[in-house]
Parts: sequence; structure tokens; C-alpha cells
Amino acid sequence: MNNNVDFLVIGSGMAGLIYALKVAPAGKVCILSKINMDETATKYAQGGIAAVMYDPDNYDKHIEDTINAGVGLNDENIVKIAINESTERIQELAEWGTQFDKESTGKYSLAKEGGHSEYRILHHKDNTGNEIQRALSEKVKNHPNITILENHLAIDLITQHHKGKLVKRKNTDTTCYGAYVLNKESGDIITLLAKTTMLATGGIGNIYQTTTNPTLSTGDGVAMAYRAKAQIDNLEFVQFHPTSLYNTGEKPSFLITEAMRGAGADLVTRKGAPFMYKYDTRGSLAPRDIVARAIDNEMKISGDEFVYLDTRKIEKNEIINHFPTIYAKCLSIGIDITKEMIPVVPAAHYACGGIVTDEHGQTSIHNLFAAGEVANTGLHGANRLASNSLLESAVFSHRAAIKASSLIPGLEFEKDIPDWNDEGTVLNEEMILITQSKKELQSLMSNYVGIVRSNLRLKRALDRLNIIYQETEDLFDKSIVSEPICELRNMINVAYLVIKLAMKRTNSIGLHYNLDYPK
Ligand code: FAD
Ligand code: SIN
Repeated sequence: MNNNVDFLVIGSGMAGLIYALKVAPAGKVCILSKINMDETATKYAQGGIAAVMYDPDNYDKHIEDTINAGVGLNDENIVKIAINESTERIQELAEWGTQFDKESTGKYSLAKEGGHSEYRILHHKDNTGNEIQRALSEKVKNHPNITILENHLAIDLITQHHKGKLVKRKNTDTTCYGAYVLNKESGDIITLLAKTTMLATGGIGNIYQTTTNPTLSTGDGVAMAYRAKAQIDNLEFVQFHPTSLYNTGEKPSFLITEAMRGAGADLVTRKGAPFMYKYDTRGSLAPRDIVARAIDNEMKISGDEFVYLDTRKIEKNEIINHFPTIYAKCLSIGIDITKEMIPVVPAAHYACGGIVTDEHGQTSIHNLFAAGEVANTGLHGANRLASNSLLESAVFSHRAAIKASSLIPGLEFEKDIPDWNDEGTVLNEEMILITQSKKELQSLMSNYVGIVRSNLRLKRALDRLNIIYQETEDLFDKSIVSEPICELRNMINVAYLVIKLAMKRTNSIGLHYNLDYPK
């Protein structure tokens, strides 16, 4: 392949694939995926995608629910855009082949999740993400303008910095010219030049010990953009999903969708006592920050390692038809959820912040776009409303595609970009240096920067992170580039941003709860 493309797309989840399909009529597209194309967080999405479809729901109610969940830190203009365009984006996904479940009347079957005042979650059983990924992948694979490079890891974005110019975060002329990319199979590092680059690299969950995110979610996009001097914000708001399956040693943690609570399941203590009404009038269907904190508190009071989700009120048929994946998974470990309760714990799930983008997906760096979980559009504020992230991916990758396509006629490929400099590097033969640092990082993030934080815990986390940072940068400079060292470096950058942004806050709000500022 000639290494010049009009549109470089880093990431093959929902955001990357929608964007790729929409820019493809305007030029040559290359999609990178660091594993195989269909291994994405998108594929694991269970509950569904939130959108306004029928009465009695309306845009104003969904807007209000989103802002309530986000405790008002949302960007109101962005919230309105996302929700007012939701119906259109669903229609398009359906036209492209996504099979959302329907009622016998032909209308879409809509579920309810925490913080939603209406039934508005479109779904495909309990594996909606897999269905969306399938439909989009099929379309992308058949497109003549799109090349897919699997097992290719973007290492760093190319900017003026690589031409010897000092690039600072406050500069307004920083421009992205493409990326340095590791072919994981050959070990070659490609200089991939692009007129426009889209970061659609997904989430950051693996900076924590327990997460629902697949192993690929190591915050690469945020870290690359940060090193390239883009604006990053809102990352202190890390969402912990209240109900991941308690199954010691399983990584990633298996999710028990919130839609089960929407269908009538209740949270109870290990002794079987309901507890959510002590914390919120909405009970088990309160927004996630409240539910996750309540579970954390109940576990601290009782000393138990989990609470139960009691699904026994849901009809057996409903469980088997609507939640077949969860039913089968629990059965595989000896729990029949039509008769027994599911042990659950909170797990890191979603990054509400990320790379700052405008309403067209543009970052603060010229010709660099971001969409999906990696972006901070302003939709979520201090806490994401359930099932609003797939919606965000659909709306803002669509908008970014329109903008990026319009830029192409006025852009040239940058010249005189040097190849990746690996002078003086050697093969790192001590993987333990990387694996141990990764464990330390995950442990300090879980223990000091989790659901409940304090100033002292945050400071401890930062002090320890600084040591790991220095050691890893030294190792990176000396090592032949590999995926594990790149991912560790990225996770350290992202953890640093979460901690620094959390330290800046002098209040507790939404997902950021600091014992020193109880209000
Ligand atoms: P992803 O789908 O994660 O795709 C990331 C892509 O980037 C991958 O192709 C990966 O290979 C690539 N990549 C990453 N780094 C690099 C690199 N350095 N070089 C090259 N490629 C790279 N949201 C909802 O709205 N509703 C739900 O029901 C829901 N359920 C969820 C359930 C689970 C278990 C999880 C984990 C998340 C869930 N979410 C849900 C959140 C939602 O799935 C994600 O936010 C969304 O899918 C992210 O899509 P994305 O396109 O941004 O990234
Ligand atoms: C779930 O199905 O509970 C996950 C929904 C989401 O993360 O939005």
C-alpha cells in the first residue's frame, strides 16, 4: 500500500467504522485496528442505544435526563445536537443492516435503564454492540475505497514536532500529518501520512484492576493526542458500572446489563435485604454514580466482596429471550438466574472525558478529529446516562465525516517527515519490567483513584505514578517498540490526566467523589 491516504482512521469500533463509511466517497481511507477488526468495546455493548422514537417520549425529556445524570456539567448545545439527531442516526443504522428487536406490532422494542424517565433503549437482545459491529463491518469490508490494516498499532501522531519544531499546548497552529504505526506481525514501523486523521480508539478501562472493557482499551488515543499537545478534559469522571459479575480472576469483568434492572431486577445485600431506596428514590434504577457508590458503601459496611442482583422477579421467558448471553454465561458458572441471584460488584466501565472536540468532532489540533469514547464532546458532563455512548459515537462520527470530507480539497500531504527514529534501541528481554509496572499502575488507580477518593489518596497515587512514569520513559527510549510498552506508556499518561484533573476539583460531583469535599 502507498503510505499516503486522505483519511486515516485509528480504530474499528462503531465510531471509526461509521466515520470511514461516510468519508469514503470523498477519498482513500485506511482503518487501523490494533487487534482484529471486530475486537472492539463496541462488540461487547449489551443494553443498547438510547434514542427518542415514539410518544410519550420526546427530545426534551431525553435532554433533561442526560443533563440530570451529568449534574449539569454537560455542554447543553452538544446535548441538544446528540439527542435531536438520535432518531435519524437510528434509522440509518437500521438501513445499514442493524437488526434492532421489534414488538409484534412492528414497532421497535424499547427498554429502560437507570436515569431514563422513558423507555428509549433500542437493543438487539443483550448483545446490541455485537449486532451493530457486525452490520457496520460487513459494509466496510465491501467498500472499494477502504483499506483495513488489522494488527497495526498507532504509536504516535505526527505533527510539526517531528520536523524539529517546538510544539506547545497553547499553540494554535499545531497540525496532524498522520501517524507512526507498528505492524505487529513484521515489527516494521510505517510512516503513514494522511490529510486528515480520526482518533476512534475507545476507552481507558484497563488503567484499573477490574474493568468491563476489553484488554484493548488502554487509552491510546487520549495519550497520543496528549503527547501531541491536544486539549484533554473531563477525565476525572470515570464511570464504574454498578453490576459486573463477581467471578474472581475473570478479565475483563463480565457485564450484567442495567437493562436487567430496567426489567425488574433489584439490588440486595448478601443477606437479601434491598438497600437502594436508602440512597435514592429511584431505587435500583438511579443513575450509575449513585448506584455504584451505594454498592461500594454497602460492601464496606458489611465487609462482603459483592452484593446480589435479584433477577428472579423477571419472567423466565423474558430472561431467556431478552438476556440469552447473560443467562448462558451465568449458567456456565453454575448460576441459574431464573432461580438464583447474581453476585455483582462495580467495575471501571467508561471514560466520560477525553480529547476535547467541537460539534464537528474537531480537536484543538488541525486536521485531527476524535469520536466515540476517546472524545470529550461535552455530552456526558459529570456522569454518562446509560446507553448514551453508542448514540454519541453515531452522531459525532457522522458530523466529523461531513467536516473532514469538506476539508480534503484544500489539503496536501506534508513533505519531509522523517521515519521513526529507533537508533540505539534494543529488544527488551525483561517483560517483567512492563508487567509489574502495569500491575502497580492498576493497583494504585483502583485503591486511590476509584469510586471514592480523597486528597491524600490522590497525592499518593500521583507520587507513585511519577516513579513508574520515569522508569517507563527510560525503558521506552532504550527498547525496540512493542505493543506492551506502548500500551503501558499510554496508560500512565492517561492515569496521570485522571489524577491531575481529579486533584484540580475542589468539590464532589457526579462520578468524582472526594471524601474531603463531601458536598
Ligand atoms: P471501540 O469500540 O472500543 O473501538 C476501539 C478501536 O480502536 C478498536 O478497533 C481498537 O483496535 C482500536 N485501537 C485502540 N488503540 C489503537 C491503537 N493504538 N492503534 C490502532 N488501533 C487502536 N454503551 C452504550 O451506549 N450502550 C451499551 O449498552 C453499552 N454497553 C457496554 C458494555 C460493555 C461490556 C462495555 C465495555 C461498554 C459498553 N458501552 C455501552 C460503552 C460503548 O460500548 C463504548 O463506549 C463504545 O462502543 C466505544 O466505541 P468506540 O468506537 O469509541 O471504540
Ligand atoms: C449496560 O448494558 O448496562 C451498559 C449500558 C451502557 O454502558 O451504556
